[in-house]
Amino acid sequence: MITRRSVLGGALAAAGLPLLAPGAFAGGEAHAARGGPRPASASTPPAFTTAMPVPPVLRPLSSTGDVDCYELTIRKSTAEILPGVASDVLTYDGHFPGPVIHARSGRRVLVRHHNGLHMPVTVHLHGGSVPPSSDGNPMDVFAPGTARTYVYTNRQPHASLWFHDHAHHMEAEHVYRGLSGGYLLTDDLEQSLPLPKGRYDVPVTIRDARFDERGQLAYTMSDRNRTTILANGKPTPYFQVAARKYRFRLLNGSNLRLFSLSLSDGTPLIQIGSDGGLLERPVAVPVLTLSPGERADVVVDFSRHPVGTRLVLANTGPGRPEQVGRVLRFDVVRTADDPSRVPAVLRTLPPAAALPRAAVTRHIELSMDEDGRPDPRGFVNGRLFDPDRVDTTVAFGSSEIWNVTNTNKRAPHNFHVHLVQFRVLERGGRPAGPTEAGLKDTVRVMPGETVKLHMTFDGFRGDYVYHCHMLDHSAMGMMATFRVR
Ligand code: C2O
Ligand code: CU
Ligand code: CU
Repeated sequence: MITRRSVLGGALAAAGLPLLAPGAFAGGEAHAARGGPRPASASTPPAFTTAMPVPPVLRPLSSTGDVDCYELTIRKSTAEILPGVASDVLTYDGHFPGPVIHARSGRRVLVRHHNGLHMPVTVHLHGGSVPPSSDGNPMDVFAPGTARTYVYTNRQPHASLWFHDHAHHMEAEHVYRGLSGGYLLTDDLEQSLPLPKGRYDVPVTIRDARFDERGQLAYTMSDRNRTTILANGKPTPYFQVAARKYRFRLLNGSNLRLFSLSLSDGTPLIQIGSDGGLLERPVAVPVLTLSPGERADVVVDFSRHPVGTRLVLANTGPGRPEQVGRVLRFDVVRTADDPSRVPAVLRTLPPAAALPRAAVTRHIELSMDEDGRPDPRGFVNGRLFDPDRVDTTVAFGSSEIWNVTNTNKRAPHNFHVHLVQFRVLERGGRPAGPTEAGLKDTVRVMPGETVKLHMTFDGFRGDYVYHCHMLDHSAMGMMATFRVR
């Protein structure tokens, strides 16, 4: 039988077009273990014994005029996450960790997704300003065996976006099992800066996982035992670097875990960007906190270190340090020229006082059952998610202030809004710190805390959602719908 994929693959080969950018693919070993003997029990390897792969960059099937077209199949595959074990994963086109799409502001991207799973899916571009028909709303799923084309107009400045599954109630498990990928949107401004580029600009998705005794990803909601930390899909790996500056696009891809990241030599991370692109100026951050779905662009200068140096990216976030305290190790293995620089000014954003005047102030409360019941529920303003209800209506073109409070005693939450990049005006009644001074789409809200956000709804009209991005919580109901009209 001639499958659609073999036709596609044949056409690509005939056109001399590999699906992946040359040299970008580092996941070739993912299938090596398939069919091989499975150890009776699989366990997490000693730290720093596997190499961290760089996720593959997808090449468009076609690029014409002002549009790049991609075609992907969402399907089951296996990946060698633990050494010698083939773990079942859900993938975009077979890639674990998920692939990366490079996009440019002002150029449209079309992605046609084929659903090769046995359950409905929907694909959301996190942080993107996209029309409702392409937003991947939780209820806007497409069935097994069908395909759906998402249109990304990219009418927004550069940003480190990502895409992931959002099928209602299944998003948490689908993302956990692998359905996430990168979407790096660039523009002229970002390209004009002398920041590290090409192979020195590396996406790193950090997440936790729990494996069963056969080395398979185990998923249960609200699992507190996801104590294996993966960086680009490998457990506590090493990454060989040259003694020069690198840019790392960090994404916390966990469902629940917060990370507090620092370098073992005590030097600060230089944060240059967050969810919605570059900060106005670089910030030296001794400990970088990332909640699920948040991104941070950081620059690390390895030229301070002689070849042979090993630097650990440590995590002091919640959990037992001997289990979750190390994320990855940078091994300085060679010297290299370094024409890159981190300019003192990266971009300009309007100061808080110059933002458009807010027409409306809203109060949003995030909470979940904390009484230890087996099936905790999540709430926004005391209500469970109901896809048939519009919770908030905003006027197209207007600006609003949203005060978002976590009313729980112990559980951290965060807050993500589709469609917009917002500004964090205050955290706990004080001006937000420099790492949160840029454009954000996801913001941490600790127990009892309130964040004050400013957002402008000038992108598109239609229905979108906002929710806690600790995806186990949104799957429990901590999500609501807003309508822009
Ligand atoms: Cu990244 Cu509605 O989510
Ligand atoms: Cu989103
Ligand atoms: Cu939450």
